[in-house]
Amino acid sequence: MAVGIFDSGLGGLTVLEAAQKCLPDVDFIYLADSEHAPYGVRTADDIYELTCAAVQRLFDAGCDLVILGCNTASAAALRRMQEGWIPEGKRVLGVFVPLIEALTERDWGDNSPPREVDVKHVALFATPATVASRAFQRELAFRAIGVDVEAQACGGVVDAIEDGDFILAEAMVRSHVDALMRKMPKPQAAILGCTHYPLMLDAFQEALGADVKVFSQANLVGESLADYLTRHGDKIGSGEPAYLTTGDPKQVSNRATQFLRRQITFTAA
Ligand code: DGL
Repeated sequence: MAVGIFDSGLGGLTVLEAAQKCLPDVDFIYLADSEHAPYGVRTADDIYELTCAAVQRLFDAGCDLVILGCNTASAAALRRMQEGWIPEGKRVLGVFVPLIEALTERDWGDNSPPREVDVKHVALFATPATVASRAFQRELAFRAIGVDVEAQACGGVVDAIEDGDFILAEAMVRSHVDALMRKMPKPQAAILGCTHYPLMLDAFQEALGADVKVFSQANLVGESLADYLTRHGDKIGSGEPAYLTTGDPKQVSNRATQFLRRQITFTAA
């Protein structure tokens, strides 16, 4: 049985890459809803409808487990999907929890009461919809006390990345980090709360300074998925991934190949 990984565009490829490293024999099907990207400037209702449609497409392609490799969908739609939309026998998981578990020094699935943790000042960089949802703060409050979170909605970064304009994306990262640091001059840790942002990891680290520990999601999600599949494992296949897009397959393939620096070929979803 294949595992689906979904994102509005190319950001979830960072999650897919990390997951493939941990799980080389699993058949992954990646779906980029490029026609409707970016999601981060849409309403929660809109994001919910689009995410349900995309996940249904992955169920139809034979996945019984789908990872939302998109914080915006995880923040704005996952809880509502879990409250009644997900069909019997299917699972949909988000990308927030592994990140928060790493930040709060917890093992996978540790649901003990919230406690004090080392980091007290955390900068969150995410899309406008993720910031507006306050899902990160909600999940954090279940696990840690006394952590001050300052969130920066990074409008424009995803568009620049999807357009392949890395110079613009870098300039925007610098300006969003400046804006954040005016509100919180000395963050101890920074969360890259959008799966597109690991593609700009160096720009974030440079702008934040070497003292700030930057938590980038892809590896954490890869490890946590490997852990999950070891417990629920019937997912061994040939390790051959498939890439689907709702956008123009040629254009999306070119961008993906540019990002990951190896040939990636998308077909129409
Ligand atoms: N990669 C998505 C996320 O993690 C992108 C959001 C967008 O489409 O704006 O939030």
